[in-house]
Amino acid sequence: MNVVLGISGGIAAYKAPDLVRRLRERGANVQIVMTASAEEFVTSTALQAVSGKPIRSNLWDKEAEAAMSHIELARWADVVVIAPATAEVMARIVSGGAPDLLTTICLATEAPIALAPAMNHVMWGNAATQANREVLEKRGIHILGPGIGSQACGETGAGRMLEPDAIAAAVFSLGGGKGESLLDGRKVVITAGPTREAIDPVRYITNRSSGKMGYALASAAAAQGAKVVLISGPVSVPAPPGIEVVDVESAEQMYEATHTAIVDADIFIAAAAVADYRPATVVKQKIKKKSDAMSIELVRCPDILASVAEMESSPFTVGFAAETENVIEYARGKLENKKLDMIVANRVGDNFGFDRDDNTATALWHDGQKSFPTCSKIDLSRELIELVAQHFYAVRSADTQPRLTAISNSD
Ligand SMILES: Cc1cc2nc3c(=O)[nH]c(=O)nc-3n(C[C@H](O)[C@H](O)[C@H](O)COP(=O)(O)O)c2cc1C
Repeated sequence: MNVVLGISGGIAAYKAPDLVRRLRERGANVQIVMTASAEEFVTSTALQAVSGKPIRSNLWDKEAEAAMSHIELARWADVVVIAPATAEVMARIVSGGAPDLLTTICLATEAPIALAPAMNHVMWGNAATQANREVLEKRGIHILGPGIGSQACGETGAGRMLEPDAIAAAVFSLGGGKGESLLDGRKVVITAGPTREAIDPVRYITNRSSGKMGYALASAAAAQGAKVVLISGPVSVPAPPGIEVVDVESAEQMYEATHTAIVDADIFIAAAAVADYRPATVVKQKIKKKSDAMSIELVRCPDILASVAEMESSPFTVGFAAETENVIEYARGKLENKKLDMIVANRVGDNFGFDRDDNTATALWHDGQKSFPTCSKIDLSRELIELVAQHFYAVRSADTQPRLTAISNSD
């Protein structure tokens, strides 16, 4: 797949080399086009080294134009993605002008265009930027994100560029699955986040899961070419681009949604923290404060993971074991008892696991295991999806995938 990666002048340009690496890992040819301001934030030397191609930035570069004109470059692209996209470059594209190489390519290409905006949250919220976003979307330009969170300016809000993995996943899905991917043509169903079990109309029982792990897994699976259905409890993580998200609230709803989606799935990954128990009855009106103590009778919720693993033609089934002690021992017990193909064990509580951006995990299967050092949930997800794909093909199918031989299997 041929990708024109436009880089404009925002702080998030420092993530561009990582994005290039992730696109190339999946087999994309990446031609970088920088704006003049982008060169203030990231060097063309670094980008040339990671992309393996000379950087294009000047519309008036006679030598580069003679080798491949801006029109040829616009035709060459299967996808044009601008990451980061500044407020300024969004405005230039809206205006329809072509004062520089990047906006000229945007005008001249018939390929899908995606922008990953990155800017201060007030700039993003400004009526002018929002009006530009609306126009761009109406013209069929894909707006990826932005995410919500802490910003380089020290404030918090909407305007963070999506993580490179999520952008790479969106680029591959816009490119129609071109390129070499481990899970091309496979369907992966993933559950994520907590569930809420209602006590009365205003109260519920839930847990500390943020959904970050499941969402990162969904992006990583999509980046490997899978059709992903993400069944999500209530979370504040932005929906990954190009992925079907089914929003649910209770364990019962997650069970129903999973069994609807699982029918033709190849792989099921249960990353959600599903309630084990729910109130036996949901009180119709808000419970009033009457006595000094009260108790709530709890009953078991459906075991989604076991129910999928028990299916006659079950998909390759991966569970998660979030434990506060004896992590590996409990996880191996769950792997065997529930007849799973793989389980990912991670410690939770006391600054581990839940509602964090990083994680430390060990994947276990019947005759082996692999430990991953502490790393971001995004990096961990990429490695886990490769491991899952490796075992999926080994266990379930005679299909051979060329890159599988390159996956190391330590521990
Ligand atoms: C230190 C610094 C950081 C900036 N960060 C951003 C940013 O994150 N997002 C943005 O839209 N503009 C940002 N700007 C403003 C853009 O660099 C400016 O609008 C520039 O003209 C964009 O040009 P370009 O879109 O052609 O790259 C920043 C400017 C400075 C000086």
